[in-house]
Amino acid sequence: MPGSNKNIKFLVDNRDKSDDLVSVKEEVLKLDNSVVDYEEFVDPYCLEKKPQKISFQDVTSAAFLIKGGVEKTPCFKSKLSDHRNLDMDLYLKMDFMQHTGSFKERGARYALLSLRDEQKQKGVISASLGNHAQALSYHGMLLNIPVTVVMPEAAPIMKVQKCRNYKANVVVFGKDMAEAKQLAMKMANDEKLLYINGYDHPHIMAGQGTIGLEILEQVQNPDAVIIPVGGGGLIAGIAVAIKSLSPKTKIIGVESEKCPSFSKALANKGPIHTPIKNTLADGLAVPKVGVNAFETAMPLIDKMVVVKEEWIALSILQLVETEKCVVEGAGAAGLAAILAGHLPELKGKKVVLLLCGGNIDTTVFGRCLERGLAAEGRLVKFTVCVSDRPGGIHELCRILAGLGVSIKDIMHERAWLKDIYSVEVKVVAETRDWNHSLTLKKVLNEHYEQVTFIEVPMAIHN
Ligand SMILES: Cc1ncc(COP(=O)(O)O)c(C=O)c1O
Repeated sequence: MPGSNKNIKFLVDNRDKSDDLVSVKEEVLKLDNSVVDYEEFVDPYCLEKKPQKISFQDVTSAAFLIKGGVEKTPCFKSKLSDHRNLDMDLYLKMDFMQHTGSFKERGARYALLSLRDEQKQKGVISASLGNHAQALSYHGMLLNIPVTVVMPEAAPIMKVQKCRNYKANVVVFGKDMAEAKQLAMKMANDEKLLYINGYDHPHIMAGQGTIGLEILEQVQNPDAVIIPVGGGGLIAGIAVAIKSLSPKTKIIGVESEKCPSFSKALANKGPIHTPIKNTLADGLAVPKVGVNAFETAMPLIDKMVVVKEEWIALSILQLVETEKCVVEGAGAAGLAAILAGHLPELKGKKVVLLLCGGNIDTTVFGRCLERGLAAEGRLVKFTVCVSDRPGGIHELCRILAGLGVSIKDIMHERAWLKDIYSVEVKVVAETRDWNHSLTLKKVLNEHYEQVTFIEVPMAIHN
């Protein structure tokens, strides 16, 4: 965004300071009237030089205000532990069962309810790729508060449409979140809307903390709670709630290897920009964690874990197969940390796993299931050269059928082979498990000279 003015302009905070959770100085540093460089807008609730911690009282105030307005989601004993020999007393906190499919409603509702009347009339704005935008739009509609969301062009059409259905003013702008946020900040300034950061606004963190209160009500003395981490607001709120009431309970955060911004912030002793890559856990793809979230969560987190994408895919698959839960990548990250073996200290312990979102694109969901099957060695892809004489492919199919291997896709090709009496057959096949795949490999190698298995980036059996 071009602009010569390097002064920093603070957005005006219209709220009444007396009942404010945060003490934001109402300070508008005047720009001269030249070009406004809106990269330079600063959110007064998230000041790098003055980070704010939330308190236990903030979380209980949030719980009081949002009660009845969001679901108190169940926390069930999981079947996964027995199924996969995890040797843990595992509980699943099902916050993907909120109306809009994620925990984000808690913070959004609390932030909206905390506005002073004048701001409730003017409305709020935020930039978001999905879950926060939906939560804010939905509760804005219920509370009759105008909501504007700026969503980057990459936001899934379905999520954009949902926000429109919730009567939000939806602006699709920018190639990424940074550009969408710049516009949202400028609109906030121009139209006197309050910008609500989806993970770092103190009310958002306090609202998310209500999950911690519910967990302690639903599970007696958990040894650990595992929480996916994006911008850090979720873990910050929950950690405040849980450590205040049950200091012995370990708080464990999980990130994808593609966006380890909280781990990097810990190493750096402060939020730092971390390049992110495409991830199945798109809800966690935040390049720089929130300053307030970091300040609040950092002293309360016992361990941070970074997981590979294959484990996230496998976790999505496991949650569907074993628990009949459709959970998005971000929501499945906690289970991924357990399955990947990053938390051996939790063996024999009572553990709560937060399943915090279920908004997964149908096509992405299909791909995740296949990737999960591949990662576990239950979906294999290979090429094999067989005789081009009558019965060559039939023989291959007979071998596969004899092994109980199910063919999902099969294709053959002859034009480019050196040996004109051969045909190359490409197969995608489903097996029972990893050992069954190894047997298949061995039998094919015994029968054929040229067999090539396509390796998936296996997290699991290496
Ligand atoms: C499903 C899901 N899980 C976890 C997170 C991480 O929350 P936070 O950004 O507060 O760390 C998000 C954030 O959008 C999310 O959508």
